[in-house]
Amino acid sequence: MNLFDVYPLYDVTPVSAKGIVITDDKDQEFLDFYGGHAVISIGHSHPHYVKRLKEQLDKIGFYSNAVQNPLQVELATKLGQLSDCENYQLFLCNSGAEANENALKMASFHTGKTRIISFKNGFHGRTSAAVAATDNEKINAPLNKQQKVTILPLNEIESFKVEIDKGDVCAVIIEAIQGVGGLDEPTTQFYQEIAQLCKKKKAVLIADEVQSGFGRSGKFFGFQHHDIQPDIISIAKGMGNGFPVGGILINENIKASYGLLGTTFGGNHLACVATLAVLEVIEKENLIKNAKVLGEYFNQKAGEIPQVKRIKGRGLMLGLEFDFEVAALRKKLIYKQHLFTGGAKDKNVLRILPALNITKKDMDLFFEALKREL
Ligand SMILES: Cc1ncc(COP(=O)(O)O)c(C=O)c1O
Repeated sequence: MNLFDVYPLYDVTPVSAKGIVITDDKDQEFLDFYGGHAVISIGHSHPHYVKRLKEQLDKIGFYSNAVQNPLQVELATKLGQLSDCENYQLFLCNSGAEANENALKMASFHTGKTRIISFKNGFHGRTSAAVAATDNEKINAPLNKQQKVTILPLNEIESFKVEIDKGDVCAVIIEAIQGVGGLDEPTTQFYQEIAQLCKKKKAVLIADEVQSGFGRSGKFFGFQHHDIQPDIISIAKGMGNGFPVGGILINENIKASYGLLGTTFGGNHLACVATLAVLEVIEKENLIKNAKVLGEYFNQKAGEIPQVKRIKGRGLMLGLEFDFEVAALRKKLIYKQHLFTGGAKDKNVLRILPALNITKKDMDLFFEALKREL
């Protein structure tokens, strides 16, 4: 059987990885400044993470959500404390799209309404409603196009007011920093105004923190830069450092009932331990602070490069905008400098998403390699 050929692959075959170094099948080392789409949060094969997962595997890897799983309770408690979101309830699933799908579904259950508002250049995943809320025609099948979604320009409050005033909106979904789109952000004023209008019009505000959450932006959640309280927060990516896990944090004023949401694999023992290990490392190694400090260092170093048109993002969720498309540069960085970076929907933006425990020395290596190829 052949693989379904949907990915244009780089010709690199990683066989092992440690920290930010990936080694391929020819023993060539690469520096990972992308973390496989913002997934690697505490570095590849972090010893604490490996130990925790191995120990759990020796005990029990999985049982369904029909029995008690104290690891889920431990995870909810720890996540509530570290993220300062103790007034939320946790539902666990397996990916970012699934998190958003459940968030949108909860918004519709809660309000009894059906229309979604999302924003231009947003990305929310590939499941039915999540992909319909994603601003990319190409990945929406006719089936998905049946969803009622209005995609509005970011930071234009007047068009938002017109749509929310119609009274039929169940959910407004927004990223604090647009990952796939190319690192654009809502302003604090815009984010606060839409939060107020959602409250007034009884629409559920969903913060899609799948990419910007778990410390990446220099705060636990990206929306925390804007002093707002979403109704639902979706999480995945950095949460499991590579173990597939996602979830939603649901404000305590949204009530649960048996059977409302569900999943076979979500919240399994290994997924809980992977996430607990990530949180333990984030706390012990003070990684949110490191993301902030290293983000500032990145800004300073990038500011010295004349070809950089604009520096985008926060913490270690970063982008460099050039006045040319970066695909060829990314190829040179991989094949000649042995360094992984990311692209975006905005083809002129180079995305930088390293593990949160990188050092200034690592960052210097990145800039030396970049300068050699510019
Ligand atoms: C902001 C955001 N939401 C949702 C998703 C979808 O996550 P997943 O690929 O785990 O389904 C992504 C993936 O890139 C994302 O960046």
